[in-house]
Amino acid sequence: MDQATVADDLEKILVTKEQIDERLAGMAARISADYEGRDLLLVGVLKGAVMVMADLVRALDRHVEMDWMAVSSYGSGTKSSGVVRILKDLDKDISGLHVLVVEDIIDSGLTLSWLLANLRSRGPASIEVAALLRKPDAAKVDVDVRYVGFEIPDEFVVGYGLDYAERYRNLPFVGTLAPHVYR
Ligand code: XMP
Ligand code: MG
Repeated sequence: MDQATVADDLEKILVTKEQIDERLAGMAARISADYEGRDLLLVGVLKGAVMVMADLVRALDRHVEMDWMAVSSYGSGTKSSGVVRILKDLDKDISGLHVLVVEDIIDSGLTLSWLLANLRSRGPASIEVAALLRKPDAAKVDVDVRYVGFEIPDEFVVGYGLDYAERYRNLPFVGTLAPHVYR
């Protein structure tokens, strides 16, 4: 593994670590206000949402619980189909709880729309979504995302939890890959 070449694999940085920190602080303030006086369960979607969750909860000056789900979306190549399989389910029952789903990125929105239907069937008191990134295709699907970090163009991005072949998740920013990486 040649860590020294990671920067060479990138084309451009779309969102810097500073921009992410500032935006997450703003989202955390809104979340604190919106859920004042209510218990809150954050549900992170593995693996991409790990970084967003870690930084978001540390910006929240209140009690929260965290739980995690891992889902796999069947699709051709990089496009998801909306047919989803649960690889790891929540540890606990969410009936009667205020749930906030934490996502890295919403592309077509198909995965999220399936996930919300699944979670709603378990009878939570409320369910909302916080996503760091959203692509333009998401507008085609009727999913209401209450907290969005950044609207980004329809490009494949990596970093801050997002991977290409499981690499680049550990980058502290979001960027696009140089064409030579795909070859
Ligand atoms: P949909 O299309 O269902 O898909 O909203 C969401 C999931 O697809 C993955 N995804 C990406 N992963 N860079 C990535 O590393 C991207 O640009 C990208 N776009 C979509 C991601 O797993 C997300 O949860
Ligand atoms: Mg991935």
